[in-house]
Amino acid sequence: MLKGPRVELRTIQAGDAPLMYRWHNDPRVASEMGMRHTLFATSMEEERTALQRIVATSSEQYLIIQLKGGRPIGYASLARIDLRNASARLTVVIGEPAEWGNGYGKEVTSLLTNYAFNVLNIHRLYLRVPDYNQRAIRCFTACGFQKEGTLRDDHFHLGSYRSSHLMSILREECQR
Ligand SMILES: CC(C)(COP(=O)(O)OP(=O)(O)OC[C@H]1O[C@@H](n2cnc3c(N)ncnc32)[C@H](O)[C@@H]1OP(=O)(O)O)[C@@H](O)C(=O)NCCC(=O)NCCS
Repeated sequence: MLKGPRVELRTIQAGDAPLMYRWHNDPRVASEMGMRHTLFATSMEEERTALQRIVATSSEQYLIIQLKGGRPIGYASLARIDLRNASARLTVVIGEPAEWGNGYGKEVTSLLTNYAFNVLNIHRLYLRVPDYNQRAIRCFTACGFQKEGTLRDDHFHLGSYRSSHLMSILREECQR
């Protein structure tokens, strides 16, 4: 378990499928992430299958974000862990919109960044963020991530093609 001043990160379990189902099916969360909108929502069965795969692989680490006291508010992950090139992709999702803007995203990003660099010996962390998700861009910028490029019109969002930014941080740029 990774512990910060206000949040804890615990390993995800197969039994967390209902939480992932709720967060992924909240249009406010899906919209911020630029997830593909289809006519049908993600099913519980898909979430269960995805979690079975996740808990069985070592190249992806998914963690439930919970407040002190145990209330789950989202998840974070280090995926595409590439040992040869010492890189990984970071995702942070506060799945409860009522908790947005309370500083939890920055705390989680900082915890996972330090874990990746100092425990997993990762050299480069990267992520993709839609260009209209200014809260996420500010969160990751505050934690030391830099924009390194733009994926032009890489997804169709609410009626038009929108772009995403790639952001990254190298170990020597990490402040703590
Ligand atoms: C993106 C996310 C992880 C950020 O976590 P958070 O706890 O909401 O954010 P924090 O409070 O830690 O930091 C937010 C930053 O954005 C700013 N901010 C808050 N609300 C904002 C808004 N509506 N618009 C722009 N900036 C905003 C804050 O001031 C802070 O920046 P600062 O440190 O420069 O002052 C979280 O909002 C989330 O999970 N959203 C839905 C899923 C998502 O977008 N994930 C990222 C996908 S790449």
